[in-house]
Amino acid sequence: MLRNTDTRYGWAAIVLHWLIAALFIGQFALGLVMVRIASQRTAFELIQLHKSFGFLLLGLVLVRIGWWLGSKSPELPDEVDPLERKAAPIVHLLLYAAQLVVPLSGWVLVSVSVLEIPSVPFNLFVLPHLPFQVSEQAENFWIFGHRWLAYAGGALVLLHILAALRHHFWLRDVVLVRMISPFFASRARKPE
Ligand code: HEM
Repeated sequence: MLRNTDTRYGWAAIVLHWLIAALFIGQFALGLVMVRIASQRTAFELIQLHKSFGFLLLGLVLVRIGWWLGSKSPELPDEVDPLERKAAPIVHLLLYAAQLVVPLSGWVLVSVSVLEIPSVPFNLFVLPHLPFQVSEQAENFWIFGHRWLAYAGGALVLLHILAALRHHFWLRDVVLVRMISPFFASRARKPE
């Protein structure tokens, strides 16, 4: 039940999927709010929280990619049309790339910032900055880069959610429910 099979996801993939999904969406919302907040003190606290959850997400994504590389992914149900069969792995690969690149770009951003504020995830330990040249130009570049990578990642997540809802409510297949529990994998719902 922990590992994937040809027809269903195991608990490890399912738990990682929903944890990372919740963190990514939460991080996106927190990011939008914290840069628009008037109180500098609250903004500072929220940015530190955003960094902590961002590092947690990065760690989980590395575990997830390791798990994904070491296990098979279940096949799509037979009724999925050929175009979507081709598009799905490309979107999934882009989603994995976004999960990696968005937090990494955030880490680069704080590393090149002239403010030189240390990263102390959840006040537990100091995580060193990445070895990049600190400068105002680099900081501005990476603020822009991190922002637009996050927006692109957010757009992909939205596309992914819409596709999952289409499978569940329109096509009435197991694509969404098999990511909720391994027990739902064989309960295909036939169109009426
Ligand atoms: C998947 C994880 C992450 C997501 C989805 C995310 C998303 C965002 C978003 C949406 C914004 C607001 C952009 C805007 O509208 O201006 C933002 C800003 C920011 N993020 Fe992240 N972020 C993530 C991880 C990180 C990490 C790991 C760090 C640092 C270690 C970080 C540091 C920052 C900082 C410092 C800002 C403020 C930039 C500014 O001054 O405008 N982020 N992030």
